[in-house]
Amino acid sequence: MDLPEAEWRLLLKLAAEARAARDLSPRGALYPERAGDALATLSHPLSQHIYAPLIARIAAGPLVIAQVGQSLDGRIATAGGHSHYVNGIAALTHLHRLRALVDAVVIGASTAVLDDPQLTTRLVEGPNPVRVVLDPHRRVPRTARMFDEAAPAIAVRAAASDAMEGDGVLLLPAEHGIFGPATVLDGLAERGLRTVLIEGGGETISAFLRAERVDRLHVLLAPLLIGPGREAFKLPPLERLDAARRFRMTAQFLGDDVLLDCDLRAANESAADAYQHASTSR
Ligand SMILES: NC(=O)c1ccc[n+]([C@@H]2O[C@H](COP(=O)([O-])OP(=O)(O)OC[C@H]3O[C@@H](n4cnc5c(N)ncnc54)[C@H](OP(=O)(O)O)[C@@H]3O)[C@@H](O)[C@H]2O)c1
Repeated sequence: MDLPEAEWRLLLKLAAEARAARDLSPRGALYPERAGDALATLSHPLSQHIYAPLIARIAAGPLVIAQVGQSLDGRIATAGGHSHYVNGIAALTHLHRLRALVDAVVIGASTAVLDDPQLTTRLVEGPNPVRVVLDPHRRVPRTARMFDEAAPAIAVRAAASDAMEGDGVLLLPAEHGIFGPATVLDGLAERGLRTVLIEGGGETISAFLRAERVDRLHVLLAPLLIGPGREAFKLPPLERLDAARRFRMTAQFLGDDVLLDCDLRAANESAADAYQHASTSR
């Protein structure tokens, strides 16, 4: 069953209220109490389990969501960068809904160059986010579709370059051409952009994951094998599994794809215990 349009409209209204509450009290607001009644009327599993909890979280302060559409073998594109499309229309619609809930959507320069995405919400009702590209080396041309008239856009460039800061340019300090994820988020927050979707690609998401700056990760797993290609995640090696982060994860089908909703702030002690137990009972 598709998410009913009336329900999505209600979620958009609640999200606008959550953002307003957050902006009145940026360090964390209580989700307006009256929203509780409205939330109780939601019937679709995606509203109940995915969107409503996200919206409640928006009110509570800055929030970083990352999304990745990946094959069963953990690839987001072929080695040459072809990724249209890993996921089906239901997953793509979910991505557009996420865009409608956030203030800003962030991509890496390679995604901007290879995919030339618009980063709008054209598949669903709802506001377009501010579109942001991390482009320390100024590889992304101003003719890219993300700079069209549909919504504001920002190119994040290295402060040491001869770039001029203006409406569409944010200059940030970079070390060896790399912006620290916290620096990026602070720079966006100064422009009022506090709920942020990191949309890809893998290099960009991985930097935020490594810095532990992702609160919620949505993996859209497709029944597809790509073989050698661009990886969803590039993380440092671990010596032992007990050092691995374990967190709460739920699953929802979106057409033929599966949405894995990972709450990276909720440590999963029971899973850690279960794996520990399995390793001692072998
Ligand atoms: N399936 C999906 O969900 C999905 C989503 C998005 C993209 N994609 C695919 O992913 C591929 C691209 O992904 P990718 O991992 O190769 O690259 P990417 O993450 O799109 O872009 C990486 C580049 O962005 C810049 N960048 C990212 N983070 C930075 C930081 N913290 N500081 C400074 N610069 C930063 C750097 O540009 P410089 O190289 O100029 O330094 C970096 O090399 C494409 O093929 C695209 O089609 C798939």
